[in-house]
This record gives sequence, structure tokens and C-alpha cells, in this order.
Amino acid sequence: MGPFTAEKITDKVYWVGAVDWGVRDFHGYLTSRGSTYNAFLIIDEKVTLVDTVKKPFMKEMLARIASVIPPERIDFIISNHSEMDHTGCLPEIIDLVKPEKVYASSMGRKAIGRHFYFDDDVITAVKNGETISLGESSVTFVETRMLHWPDSMVSYLDTEKIMFSQDGFGMHLASTERYDDQLPSQVLLEEAEKYFANILLPFSPMVTGLMKKLAQLDLDIQLLCPDHGPIWRSDIGGILQRWENWALQKYSLKAVVVYDTMWKSTGYLADAICDGLNSQGISVKVMPLDSSHRSDVATAVLDSGALIVGSPTINGQMFPRVADVLTYLKGLKPKNLIGGVFGSYGWSGEAVKHVEQYLDDMKIPLAAPTLNVNYVPDDDDLAKARELGATVGRELKEKCS
Ligand code: FEO
Repeated sequence: MGPFTAEKITDKVYWVGAVDWGVRDFHGYLTSRGSTYNAFLIIDEKVTLVDTVKKPFMKEMLARIASVIPPERIDFIISNHSEMDHTGCLPEIIDLVKPEKVYASSMGRKAIGRHFYFDDDVITAVKNGETISLGESSVTFVETRMLHWPDSMVSYLDTEKIMFSQDGFGMHLASTERYDDQLPSQVLLEEAEKYFANILLPFSPMVTGLMKKLAQLDLDIQLLCPDHGPIWRSDIGGILQRWENWALQKYSLKAVVVYDTMWKSTGYLADAICDGLNSQGISVKVMPLDSSHRSDVATAVLDSGALIVGSPTINGQMFPRVADVLTYLKGLKPKNLIGGVFGSYGWSGEAVKHVEQYLDDMKIPLAAPTLNVNYVPDDDDLAKARELGATVGRELKEKCS
């Protein structure tokens, strides 16, 4: 089956997932550091597999399982989340293993059924709060609907004090290291923040609710095992706190200036706007779209208080990459931002109106009048651009005070 072995993480539990070193596009999200698909094997009277992996990685998972126990010995499979990166090989695994039970939430049962056209009796639905015995240990299920799919749930293994949190608290990061304390903290922060910004942001109010629910449950969690990236064992409190903070999306003294440009006119304006923001003490990230990926823009927006968008006009429209990033950001529903719009044009200047409409749809109020410059900005135009930035900066300081 290949040169893959399981990694023991507690007396009863093994990591049997897969490492995807090469993935760079996760439905539009740039996964610069690859990813992992984590699956876990619990050895008890009922041998249990928690989640599976993306279909091309099935043999890797099976080899890791086989290094501990013949896969046919698996009694239960728990599917915490039905997205295909965790269920893609589920039909083949069920055929091979013939488990006694496959557990999922009630929504998971429906979703998995729709993906694979299973008969009704293949998946057993578990209720929120339900506990199943594996022998010495037992697993309790907690539904986390819409975090980030309708079927999502987490599973708590009592004897090992492990929370299997599916996508929750995860990140896209391929590594040979399995634990948070084996990896640079700055890398963990960058990737966890990117994951939250690109996957969880639209569901922030529900994240806030989940954090309250977890606090009320007061579970003793010694290992927090997401389905992507490292296992949290040293900084569990830190990642929980970061999620709580990110979900609030508070105003901050940071701004993102995102733009595209044809002959650099819009780019000159972006630089002047940056200077104006910076004159007010605002930390600015300028993101030209020929070299900035939409998912990095989303990450920058997560902890910013202002979003200023620039586009030239092309054929009466905004630039395609500006439309791309705005469509993406609109879906992520960022909150607590003030905005600004700028652009340049030759013989017509419709792009800024289209950009304004996007910001309005996103409920991002304009903190300064829009600047739209014909052809190439002169010194007067650049002064206006600088003032646009300074005006947004002053408003942002008010919001943060
Ligand atoms: Fe990692 Fe939502 O799947």
C-alpha cells in the first residue's frame, strides 16, 4: 500500500491522514503551503475511524491504518463533515471495511447520501449531545451547523480528552510535524488567520455562538484535532481565543488598498492614498491584483478597518481582477469596515460606480468622496488621492477611539 505509517498521538489514537504537499488551489483559495487531510484511528473494543481523506489519498490513509491494524477491523466510521476532502473515498472505504456503523449528523446523513446516492441505511444519524460507547471510551457529538457546512459537527473522545473538530481550528499547511509546538508560531498564525478569513468569515456570528457553547460544555480538551494542519496540544487556548477575536471583526487601525491598473495611473493613486492613510498613523497593506491573490486580500481584510478599492475602466466595466476580488469578498461578508473608491479612465469612467455599488452591497460606507482621474494623475490629482487616504484614516481613528 505504500511507505506510509500511522503516528501514535495517545494510547488509543493514531493519526492516519494524508499530506498533500502540492495542492495550491482549494476552490479559489491559494494554499501556498499545501495541506493535510487528517483522519484518526481509535483503537478500542470498537475500532473507529474519524473522518477519511480526499479520494486521491485513500491509499495513503489505508497504508497508515494497515500499519496499526487491518483496515477490515474497523467497526465504526465517524464523518464529522461531508465535504469531499474528508469523504471523497468514503464509498470505497465502506466497501472495503464493511463497518458496523457509519455515523454522521442528521444533515450529514442527507449530504453524504446526496453525494454518493447511498441507501438510507448506510449512515446512522446522531443527535446533538448524543454519546456512543466504543468500549472503554466513548464519543460525544456536538453539532456545529454552518461551521462551515450545514452538516458539520465535532466529536469528543472522553478517555483521551480529544476534540476532533473537523475543519474547525484548522489550516492548510503540509508538514511532517503533527503538533502546533513543532512549527513556527508565525506560520501557524498566518495560516490559521488565512483559513478563518477564507472559510469561516461569513459564519462569524455562528463562531461566536460556538465559542460560548464550548465554554458552557467546559470540556477538558488536551488535544484539539482538526482535519487540516497540525494538532493543537500546546496553544489550545490561543487558537480558541484567536477564533473568538476574529469572529468579532473589530475595527482596527489597519487598511487594505486593493487595486488593478492598466498603465499605472490607478497604481499612482493607490500609492498616494497609502501615503495619506499612513500620515494618520494607519498601517496599510497595498495589494496590486497582478501580484496579490484574492485569498490573501481576504486575509488582510479580516483584521483591517478600511477597504479602499481602485480600478481603471475597461469597456465600461471595472477590471476583471477587481470584479473577481469584490465578488469573492462580498461572499465572505466582512463586517466593521469603512471604504473608499478610486480609479482612472480614458474616455469614460464607469468602473468606480460599479465598485461603489459593490461596497454598498457589502454595507461598507464610503468615508471619503470617490476619486476618478482622466488618463494620468497630475500633482493635483495625487494630492487629492493623498487626502482621500488621510480622510479615511481620520474616520478610522474615530471608529477605533
Ligand atoms: Fe476540509 Fe470543509 O472541508
